[in-house]
Amino acid sequence: MEYQKDILCIGAGYVGGPTMVVIATKCPQYRVTVVDINKEKIHAWNSDHIPIYEPGLDELVKKVRDKNLFFSTEVEKGIHEADIIFVSVNTPTKTFGQGAGKAADLQYWEKTARQILANSDRGKIIVEKSTLPVRTASAMERILNGNPDGIHFEVVSNPEFLAEGSAVGDLENPDRVLIGSKETEEGRRARKEIVEIYANWVPKARIIESNVWSSELSKLTANAFLAQRISSINSISAICEKTEADVNEVAYAVGKDSRIGPRFLNASVGFGGSCFKKDILNLVYICQSYGLTEVADYWESVVKINEWQEKRFIQNMLSNMFNTIAGKRIALFGFAFKANTGDTRESPAIYITRGLLDERAEVVISDPQALINAEIDLEDVKDSLFFEIDPYKAASGAHAIAVLTEWDLYRNLDYQRIKEAMVQPAFIFDGRNILDHQKLFQMGYNVFAIGKAPLKHF
Ligand code: UDX
Ligand code: ADP
Repeated sequence: MEYQKDILCIGAGYVGGPTMVVIATKCPQYRVTVVDINKEKIHAWNSDHIPIYEPGLDELVKKVRDKNLFFSTEVEKGIHEADIIFVSVNTPTKTFGQGAGKAADLQYWEKTARQILANSDRGKIIVEKSTLPVRTASAMERILNGNPDGIHFEVVSNPEFLAEGSAVGDLENPDRVLIGSKETEEGRRARKEIVEIYANWVPKARIIESNVWSSELSKLTANAFLAQRISSINSISAICEKTEADVNEVAYAVGKDSRIGPRFLNASVGFGGSCFKKDILNLVYICQSYGLTEVADYWESVVKINEWQEKRFIQNMLSNMFNTIAGKRIALFGFAFKANTGDTRESPAIYITRGLLDERAEVVISDPQALINAEIDLEDVKDSLFFEIDPYKAASGAHAIAVLTEWDLYRNLDYQRIKEAMVQPAFIFDGRNILDHQKLFQMGYNVFAIGKAPLKHF
């Protein structure tokens, strides 16, 4: 079959994978290929066990794989054949040199750009999908268009706003799609080509066109605003715990103001995920490099409050369990950074586990999807930990349960049965405010939730 467009995506991760699956589903007239240097990952995408857990994604993959969607390790061949290349490789925070701990590590991006150049005999549109610091597109254009053969590449920014756990719905029905390009004739032409792809299923009014810098900065800003809401409500949760206010009631009352809105106001043990911290620190680094110290400090405080919230959670456990948890078994309910994903990147659970181990607690980690990643994250201390998928077994013989991920599963357990198998007095620390605290208290638990007065029997 003749395809209208040959689309390639470099990087088969949490962003590239689902995005291309949805494009292939919505656009049978395009051939979509996803390549990755990680052979195991590509093998998994081609098997019955795709490498990421994302509700609804399996079914879509089965529909289009080997029809108009292909997963391959042949990066160079893919580049050679493609008209449009989405780049979705990782952009972790730099761990070395200038900007370490804040700036984005662009080495994967630059390698990819050089690989594109080496394997192209005609011009192509290159689409930035990974979140990148503002002005990356121009650096990429300089690398790509510095070729002696006069081949012209147009770099377009099209940041992805999907959230893990709801990726399929977010991609099928996005609030908006943002496409930024240079305001030149060629730039606008390239932008139009990308608009055409999304227009197959996204209403035109939701497709925003902008200049390339606005597009790059909007992605960082959106994540910074979302994270800021969580840090704001989490900061208020600390006041609630000291007074008789209840953070859920405060969030409800505040969110009823239509200017504020109700979403993203759930107080928690802290935000995780691969994006929020990385993108904010990226923004902070950009501000610092332009001498905007006050702006940098403002955004950095969002990350600081998050770290403080995680630390506070451990301190609360320690002080309420009679200032010692050494030798006490503590069951962690949930390890993923949020429900409905197996992803654990920057999960507060990593920090909490390490903090509890420092206090010499015996930690049992339970999670329906994230145990493999948990073992990788905690490789260095794996031998001091227990991993148990069954929450009843995890809690058996425990002094305390800490809910760290809001999986529905944990809402509906038989907590009476669990309590009977625990060491008394039994403690529950609800880091996600998903349990019925009064009911648990009546069963005899000592209950500590985020942003609520403690319910204790002593
Ligand atoms: C985020 C953005 O939402 C998405 O638009 C962007 O493309 C990538 O980054 P993601 O990290 O997948 O998506 O998940 P998100 O739902 O935003 O949650 C991030 C973290 O915040 C999670 O740890 C979550 O549990 C926490 N959170 C979220 C809260 O603690 N309270 C809330 O009210 C909402
Ligand atoms: P994200 O959440 O942004 O999608 P992931 O880490 O899940 O990040 O995915 C990025 C993917 O990019 C990884 O699977 C990694 O192997 C892949 N990758 C990194 N560099 C290259 C490269 N030069 N060529 C092909 N794939 C790459």
